[in-house]
Amino acid sequence: MTEIAILEKIDWDFVEAETNTATNTFHPYPAKFIPPIPKHFIEHLSEPGDTVYEPFLGSGTTAVEANILGRNAIGNDVNELAVLISKVKTTPISMQRLRTLDSLLNKTYNKIYLLYSGKKNGIAKPDIINLDLWFKDFVINELVIIKEEIEELTDKNLRDFCLVALSGIIINVSNQDSDTRYVRVPKNINHFDTYDRFSKQINKLIKIMSASYKQLANGFSEFKVADTRIEGIFPENSANLAVTSPPYPNAYDYHLYHKYRLFWLGMNQYQLRKSEIGAHADYSRKNGPNEFDFMEDMEKCFLNTSKILKPCSYFVLVIGDSILKGRNIHNNEILKEAAKNTPFKFVTEFTRNLNLRKKSFNPKIGNIKTEKIVVFENLK
Ligand SMILES: C[S@@+](CC[C@H](N)C(=O)[O-])C[C@H]1O[C@@H](n2cnc3c(N)ncnc32)[C@H](O)[C@@H]1O
Repeated sequence: MTEIAILEKIDWDFVEAETNTATNTFHPYPAKFIPPIPKHFIEHLSEPGDTVYEPFLGSGTTAVEANILGRNAIGNDVNELAVLISKVKTTPISMQRLRTLDSLLNKTYNKIYLLYSGKKNGIAKPDIINLDLWFKDFVINELVIIKEEIEELTDKNLRDFCLVALSGIIINVSNQDSDTRYVRVPKNINHFDTYDRFSKQINKLIKIMSASYKQLANGFSEFKVADTRIEGIFPENSANLAVTSPPYPNAYDYHLYHKYRLFWLGMNQYQLRKSEIGAHADYSRKNGPNEFDFMEDMEKCFLNTSKILKPCSYFVLVIGDSILKGRNIHNNEILKEAAKNTPFKFVTEFTRNLNLRKKSFNPKIGNIKTEKIVVFENLK
């Protein structure tokens, strides 16, 4: 039986237990993969020591699974935060070094305590647009102290690890409703809550890292902040397989959901706004882009991915439908159309029923119950 024939027999719906791996809860990320999807393709369509490419890196699910399975991972995303999360998730840090973070937490707590007991002078607020609308005053102070302490760390990997922990709590302690809803709502947050959530997040990430760090060392990773439509991000013929879930047109607004995370981390939100494919903010405009613009974007992605992949390797894309101006758009068909002017040949397609309770769905993309997994072969 060929590897593709084996893959055709898999039940892609997956029962809940299989989808809930710890590494996938490292940082919230809208529309992230469930790990078994990239895992099965990596296992069947690549060999240990090979390199797996992810052109829409997101939170690095493909990269983590590749490393765990002894493959190297390369990938890019226009979201700087995506690249940082992926880097931290795939960079092993020993328990011994992680334990040194106790001292960071103690120092942070003491500084916040001094502030509330009037023994510490005022805090300089960062220059972030509309900060006061989105964060309570004392939350800003606690976040500033946490960030200052993180920046004191001399070990870059530990610093990045803590920045991802900090990023993970930003939406919770802000007035933003949720990870996929950029609307202000009242929240009940008290003194020390921000510190407590940060401390809990650090301890959660330490647990995940200590469970996965030996396996992660099975492969190396390299990630870049780059737009997949631009040529030459990675050298030609540098990967043996690509597995991704591209952004759906009109579905999400990564530049909005992650806006205050990016600002707090000193990252470039405006660049993400300009380069994000599929943003609801663009597609919902009266004269905004349509499915043909999405097709053009994906054609560029196919052409560039074909160069990065070796001949005869596979490119797997997971995508659902979108609603554009009231019309139901079958994005899997758009991908097949886009691939026609490129070296990729359509091989097969699987349907996956979604567990609607779990997926972080944006109601704007409609009542979508299935996703398609579309497989192409690189006949360059
Ligand atoms: C559906 S998410 C990918 C999720 C990922 N598979 C995971 O498991 O976390 C799509 C990603 O595409 C990124 N993106 C949007 N436009 C892009 C572009 N022009 N070039 C590269 N990445 C882009 C978004 O920032 C987002 O991270």
